[in-house]
Amino acid sequence: MMAASSSLYKHDSSRYLRAKIIITILRFLAYMKMIRNIRRDSYLPPNMVLEKIQIPSRDSHRTIEAHIYYPPGYDPSSSPPPLPVLINWHASGFILPQLGTDRAYCMRMARDAGIIVVDSDYRKGPENIFPAAVHDAVDTVRWVYSHPDRFDINSIALSGFSSGGNLALVTSAMSASSLKDVRINAVILYYPITNFTLDPASRVRQDINNRLAISLVRLIYSCYVPEMSMRKDVRASPILDDPSFFPETVVIFTCEGDNIDLEAEKLAREIDDGSRTVVLRRLKAIGHNWDKGVTKGSTYEKMRDEAYGETVEILKKLG
Ligand SMILES: *[C@@H]1O[C@H](CO)[C@@H](O)[C@H](O)[C@H]1NC(C)=O
Repeated sequence: MMAASSSLYKHDSSRYLRAKIIITILRFLAYMKMIRNIRRDSYLPPNMVLEKIQIPSRDSHRTIEAHIYYPPGYDPSSSPPPLPVLINWHASGFILPQLGTDRAYCMRMARDAGIIVVDSDYRKGPENIFPAAVHDAVDTVRWVYSHPDRFDINSIALSGFSSGGNLALVTSAMSASSLKDVRINAVILYYPITNFTLDPASRVRQDINNRLAISLVRLIYSCYVPEMSMRKDVRASPILDDPSFFPETVVIFTCEGDNIDLEAEKLAREIDDGSRTVVLRRLKAIGHNWDKGVTKGSTYEKMRDEAYGETVEILKKLG
């Protein structure tokens, strides 16, 4: 079990301060990397539109930033018919501001599946602990659902990477709770975090390169879900949720070289009860976040194009 002292409480000011310093440095480094990655692997084709918007939050004093990607030739002024929609959440370890890091993915989905993509931000720890990020994700789905003039609300898919995959999975299972009236058709997860009750130390794997350091995983845990009791909440650990709540299509990409996503494969097996489409792809020998900033002509680029291509085909069936 994890020692309770590894939890990060705001009233424990010296721990909090130390974490804030580390996180500030990590945020800076991650931001620089994101800028480099976006330059390297995405471009906005001239006939595609990216719109930056603010989505209302349940807290009236703030909004949630989102980037909306439209398929080529989409002209909002000509009142186009509502289109199927994909809502996406980026990877962040629940601590890094990285909205925009999935630009290449979002553009590809909008362009090739002919849908609208809403790439939405969420609050991060340690300033905003669980369930702040979940609230932002739910508010985003609600906002999409309340705009049937723009979005085909019978064709809603969710996707996410790592922590964003956690949010996508959590939100996709809320048709029995916070999102009662909303039907989510599909959820697509890239190396998602699904079980916060798992001790980070148990995730040590000597057989792989590229793994996330246990100290970093601990930091993520303590910044997002500091209290042990919170970790059992299905809105933090969706793997503990009732399998019947998940959407009819669930797609999971895990990585062989990743120490924090393989339990998602257990989830895939559990929910594959014949009542839904479950696609599980374990990508060979690659680690977390492998699909960002890939080099042209590399094996990673090929793998990314294949994984994204498979996602496009699934999204095409939405509409
Ligand atoms: C989640 O982690 C806990 C703690 O290690 C483990 O007992 C449980 O089996 C895991 N749940 C699933 C569904 O993998």
